[in-house]
Amino acid sequence: MNVVILAAGQGKRMRSDLPKVLHPLAGRPLLAHVLATARALAPERICVVYGHGGERVREVLRDPAVTWVRQEPQLGTGHALAQALPQLGAATQTLVLYGDVPLTRAETLERLREAAGDGVAVLTVELEDPTGYGRIVREGGAVKRIVEQKDATAAERALREVNTGIMVLPTARLADWLGRLRDDNAQREYYLTDVIALAVADGVSVRAAQPQAVAETMGVNSKGQLAELERIFQRGIASALMDDGVSIADPARIDVRGRLQCGRDVAIDVNCVFEGDVVLGDRVSIASHCVLRNARVAADTRLEPFCHVEDADIGAACRIGPYARLRPGTKLAEEVHVGNFVEVKASTFGPRSKANHLAYVGDSAVGRDVNVGAGTITCNYDGANKHRTVIEDEVFIGSDTQLVAPVTVGRGATIAAGTTVWKDVPPGTLALNEKTQVARADYQRPRKKK
Ligand code: UD1
Ligand code: CA
Repeated sequence: MNVVILAAGQGKRMRSDLPKVLHPLAGRPLLAHVLATARALAPERICVVYGHGGERVREVLRDPAVTWVRQEPQLGTGHALAQALPQLGAATQTLVLYGDVPLTRAETLERLREAAGDGVAVLTVELEDPTGYGRIVREGGAVKRIVEQKDATAAERALREVNTGIMVLPTARLADWLGRLRDDNAQREYYLTDVIALAVADGVSVRAAQPQAVAETMGVNSKGQLAELERIFQRGIASALMDDGVSIADPARIDVRGRLQCGRDVAIDVNCVFEGDVVLGDRVSIASHCVLRNARVAADTRLEPFCHVEDADIGAACRIGPYARLRPGTKLAEEVHVGNFVEVKASTFGPRSKANHLAYVGDSAVGRDVNVGAGTITCNYDGANKHRTVIEDEVFIGSDTQLVAPVTVGRGATIAAGTTVWKDVPPGTLALNEKTQVARADYQRPRKKK
């Protein structure tokens, strides 16, 4: 089979500089969804007809298996398919898809292909309000032709079965049919839909098939429709997760923009966003308003609300947040606590270590059973280069400490509160800066002038 994806339309109603088919649905361009569906059908050839912003579309999608065909100017869907025709193997069927219709299921297209046999098949749906679509005109139950909204009579406009645009055609006939199209219609375009009447006239069978859900045929012409399809798509992901046993507080308030894998008895509260590859182990609980991108979270760990996790690996039975930020290269062992307003970057934490409040730990190796006090900062950047901090097992760091890297705090050492550590601390010692505290009895607090 050949697959031709029509994607040359401008998408004016998106009111955007981004080509329509590059607008993201669940974090991936619309066209990437259509390409994935096309690939699932294992066709011999996939052709994308592009126009407006085409070079950018090619660059973003970079798929070596795709043949790109430019349509310039854009004279209608029939003209678009004609541009791709020289690329198509004539011995097989051609499936026409639209680059802005992202939710069609591969199973539906398989059924359409079967319905076609060696003739034509059109995917149709019945709509309450068919305004704007091409109408399917039948006689004695058989499909005879398609009439566009703008060319239709009042009686034809009353028909509620519409053309989704998705169809399967016998490739060997296309040169003839597309060559016979005329643009003597309301839009002065070469309509692909006119091949239906030509097929019927030539005695070729034309069948119709329907998808399971209307959403499979919904296109994106505006930001409103894009948001609508996003919710439908997300609802499908949420349902699949719940079928697998994941507890989702509100399936209308979760966004998965990538792949989310969950173990048993995982619970996800409202308004969480998962991007890239996220893996949650058994009994992991994610409280509300967390964002996780490319993260692994091991069993029994709980993320409190408002955590931000990116390219990080969190061990088992950890407590993270609320308001924690784990940046790329964070690797936490089991039973680690990272509390509110703590930022960790490119650092490892050994088992049971804690940084519970207001800290920055960057480019560091933290051992096991370490306590990082409130307000501790690793000064890892000297304005030119980053340096590493090593905090060995069982170290206790008092509040408001600065660790000026490169520096090592030896095993079991204690750092007094308010210390600036700029030299290595030997194991088992107490490090402090000698400061004095003065109490001046003669001090007068400044007063406001009256
Ligand atoms: C088309 C169908 C209509 C159907 C509707 C479903 C025709 C004549 N009409 O109408 O029967 O109900 O889709 O949404 O086919 N495109 C090109 N090059 C062009 C024109 C369009 O590549 O010159 C692409 C667009 O990018 C889009 C698709 O073809 O992906 C459909 O184009 P659009 O303008 O949306 O067609 P409609 O007028 O909505
Ligand atoms: Ca359309």
